[in-house]
Amino acid sequence: MAQEKLAETAVNKIEKTFGEHPTYRRAHSRGTGYDAVFTATGEGKAWTVAPHFREGTTEAIVRFSHSSPDPFWTDNLSPVKGMAVQFKLPDGQVMNSVGVTSPIFFTRTPEVFTEMLDIAKSFKKGRPRLWDLITLFIKYPESRASIRIIRKMQSPASFATGLYHAIHAFYLVNGVGKRQPVKFQWQPEAGVESLTPAQAASVEKGDFEKELEERVLKGKLGFRLVAVIGEAGDPVGDPTKDWPDDREKVEIGRLQLRKKTDEAEDLLFDPTVLPEGIECTDDPILQFRNPAYAVSYQRRNMEKQQKR
Ligand code: HEM
Repeated sequence: MAQEKLAETAVNKIEKTFGEHPTYRRAHSRGTGYDAVFTATGEGKAWTVAPHFREGTTEAIVRFSHSSPDPFWTDNLSPVKGMAVQFKLPDGQVMNSVGVTSPIFFTRTPEVFTEMLDIAKSFKKGRPRLWDLITLFIKYPESRASIRIIRKMQSPASFATGLYHAIHAFYLVNGVGKRQPVKFQWQPEAGVESLTPAQAASVEKGDFEKELEERVLKGKLGFRLVAVIGEAGDPVGDPTKDWPDDREKVEIGRLQLRKKTDEAEDLLFDPTVLPEGIECTDDPILQFRNPAYAVSYQRRNMEKQQKR
């Protein structure tokens, strides 16, 4: 099946499982946006020709989100949080970097992702039912590691204390054409902090958004962008596999949040949109995100126009 057709099917199935919620994103439906500035450390110069990773400052928009496709879920049912960043380069190029608080994804291919949506109906209640888990474990052994992580995962204490992983590998390309596989992470300067299950149970809808706004008003809220340097043999096309912990980490720059903005809600953070000097790997899940996000973006845009 062509990827565009499969993307339609996948988004239809998300709607069937989690409900239809016009004008919202079909995943990570509820979020909050900030205007931000990114300052390069200079360490990226050896690795890429992408100007914003080499020097100076670049304007950016950030959107933090709860992962559920259903905007009416209470936030403690969405322990995985998202952080999407759009860099606006001065020459008009754009880079989107989209991360979540899990280091790996649960499927290797879009076909299996779409098939799993049929089984994953009990995810509707936040955590999967045991029987559904057993079925998934038997049918899709590559998903075991990620399902185990997600099942045990606790929500970060704040959007500001999540460690966000872009999950897929990308290539950094330098001036002599060397293509280096890397994985990006956004490390919180406030430190990584999670909620206990008891604390998570008392989180009310909107608490995360309010808490973040208060932190930003106090100033100094930032994240460090780190490129984890892959070594020979590290898988570049399989988001169900993480790389060993001991890989070299290069600090590319620092993102500082400035003020709240509504601009993020209308943006499309497609992680395959990259400037010269950064390239996608052929990871089938990464490649699938372009048509899948396009379907969701078209639908929510059309619905917003109909509402006006
Ligand atoms: C089969 C693979 C995937 C599918 C079908 C999928 C689907 C979607 C859809 C439909 C949206 C809403 C897009 C929009 O309306 O703008 C979305 C948003 C999002 N996804 Fe995925 N996704 C996939 C994989 C991933 C992976 C691997 C990550 C982890 C990095 C991820 C993280 C996010 C985040 C953080 C958002 C919110 C972005 C924003 O704030 O605009 N997704 N996803």
